[in-house]
Amino acid sequence: MRNKTARKLPEKLLHGADYNPEQWLDCPEILEEDIKLMKKAGINCVSLGIFSWSQLELDDGRYSFEWMEDIIEKLYQNHIYTILATPTGAIPPWLSAAHEEVLQVNEYGVRNYAGNRHNFCPGSPVMRRKMRAIDSKLSQKFGQHPGVIAWHISNEYGGNGRAADCHCPYCQEEFRKWLQEKYGTLENLNKAWWTTFWSHSYTDWSQIHSPSERGENVLHGLKLDWKRFVSHQLLDFAKEEIAAVREYSDRPVTTNMMGFFKPLNYFEWGKEFDFISWDNYPDWHSEENEFRVAAEAAAAHSLMRGLKKAPFLMMESTPSMVNWRPVNTLKRPGMHSLSSLQAIAHGSDSVQYFQWRKSRGSCEKFHGAAVDHKNGENTRVFGDVCEVGKRLRNISEYVWGTCSHAKIAMIFDWENWWAVEDVCGVEKLDYKNLFCKYFYPFWEMGVNVDIQNMEGDFSDYQIIIAPYNYMYQKGYADKIREFVKNGGCYVTTCWSGEADDTDLCFLQAHPLRDVLGIRTEETDACGAAWDNQVSYCGVSYQVTGLRGIIHRETAEVKAYYEKDFYKGFPALTRNAYGKGCAYYIAAETEIAFLKKFYQNLLEEEGAGAGFAGKLPEGVTVSCRNDEKKKLWFLQNYNRREAVVILYKKYFDIELQKDVEGTIEMQPFSCDILLEEPGS
Ligand code: GLA
Ligand code: ZN
Repeated sequence: MRNKTARKLPEKLLHGADYNPEQWLDCPEILEEDIKLMKKAGINCVSLGIFSWSQLELDDGRYSFEWMEDIIEKLYQNHIYTILATPTGAIPPWLSAAHEEVLQVNEYGVRNYAGNRHNFCPGSPVMRRKMRAIDSKLSQKFGQHPGVIAWHISNEYGGNGRAADCHCPYCQEEFRKWLQEKYGTLENLNKAWWTTFWSHSYTDWSQIHSPSERGENVLHGLKLDWKRFVSHQLLDFAKEEIAAVREYSDRPVTTNMMGFFKPLNYFEWGKEFDFISWDNYPDWHSEENEFRVAAEAAAAHSLMRGLKKAPFLMMESTPSMVNWRPVNTLKRPGMHSLSSLQAIAHGSDSVQYFQWRKSRGSCEKFHGAAVDHKNGENTRVFGDVCEVGKRLRNISEYVWGTCSHAKIAMIFDWENWWAVEDVCGVEKLDYKNLFCKYFYPFWEMGVNVDIQNMEGDFSDYQIIIAPYNYMYQKGYADKIREFVKNGGCYVTTCWSGEADDTDLCFLQAHPLRDVLGIRTEETDACGAAWDNQVSYCGVSYQVTGLRGIIHRETAEVKAYYEKDFYKGFPALTRNAYGKGCAYYIAAETEIAFLKKFYQNLLEEEGAGAGFAGKLPEGVTVSCRNDEKKKLWFLQNYNRREAVVILYKKYFDIELQKDVEGTIEMQPFSCDILLEEPGS
């Protein structure tokens, strides 16, 4: 089945949930109530069959699809679509009992027992065969059903809470083959991994073993390639699942990703799926205010949007609480609507939940769900879900078909993530947290940002922000040079451009020395005992992390260190290059510095938020647009009311009226304002 045009979702916002009715097959009254309540809550789709393998294949080759047929049919009659899952997220005990090889082997060489989820070896031929059989049977049976709108391939690949990798003999062999293809000769591999150091040179491919605490765990090149291989191998498994469902079905395929999930390079993964979807569980109410958590959720949504530069589905979220953190706080009134609309604001075309109805037993019985164990529809949470359903229905015709279009891109690169956190030297860095820190002031100012990796197409952007790009992918430096030459503005930080894509250090100079107009020399990591500040625009800002020691060549010095043996050295530089310019932030500082710097940068580049209003602290805005209109999602993350001053007239699409002057926003609320051209 190769009909690309059919691979589209319905043209409306979706409101749905993971539906796991196999738990209730002996309670017909519950299944009936489900449909009644779904209609009440404005649910128009469910994700079905995610963990149904043992109910679909009762024993090796003994399939049982009738129950699922009934459910899909009943949902369809009630105008509820099905997003049908392949069931490989959890494997039935009969499978591993008959074929031990389907179970993962950990880095200590110990094979796991059956149980949990994502416990399978992606290299096992038996696992592949059984997966193909169930997937293609499901597709043959349901792949053309008018109620089935998409495929949910497996579930949160790699997400078993332990490790995403398998170290069994099959996987070792596959890894070696993958390396042979990549390097051709052992000589190339030895050079790339710098194996002469500590006498590690390999003389036969069979000597190579996956990294392990029990064995080799210091060879950075090996560890980096293993991470690449693990992501690639699991994706290869996913591709085989996609091929299996495509035998009989032209429905679009997705898999539910996990945002900033380190083991899988989602930029590579995104290419293989028709649309992106992901599971969003911010830790609301865990800090003194919601701002940092909200900004991190915004970054994760933007990352997921960036994989295809297109809208995505928020495949899971909780209407109340999760149950897997040490402390699981209920969403406060308003927060469910706000966090749902935040997803929409950043590019989601859906709000979906895990799960529709709380399980009665097992490990997720206390995880939030639309329907509780008790009280039927008479719960606060069900009321919140109904409210979201109503709002999505009302705004759908405005929102569907729009997307965010940013002028600023931030670089987030998975391979860099693996490399920069593995490095021995300077300081253990938390790349994701550092990245989110550089994202934060944009979120606060209501400036849309796209997130791309180093392979992205940068031609649409005016500004690129690249924090801690320790490792440069092949061709990256040249691409940035062109970007700046043609008028782009590039911002990077210390601890960037240190190593190439096999983690070999660059010799002679920083690969962008000419573009940055500086010479980098040392990097200092030290604690509070070596207190330091940088002086920028007449204000002193605290240094909080790494301190790059650099020398000005052609760049201008915009900020400098106030203390230590590098007192007076540049802490921020700007270099004019071609038609553009490049900034280098040498010192990691408190966030106030970044805010000030971004404000100046946006002013200089004429790239402000575009929203005509004044946002108080904790209120932000995010834009989706098409050629005809802009939609501004104003979001108040304060635990109290907030007042936004508008500099022009907007139209509130839910109240269906013009708004001007000021808007009083309720605590945890979102207002959606329409701006028409020329208004
Ligand atoms: C993940 C899984 C779900 C469920 C939720 C709980 O997102 O995909 O099956 O376990 O976590 O938060
Ligand atoms: Zn394996």
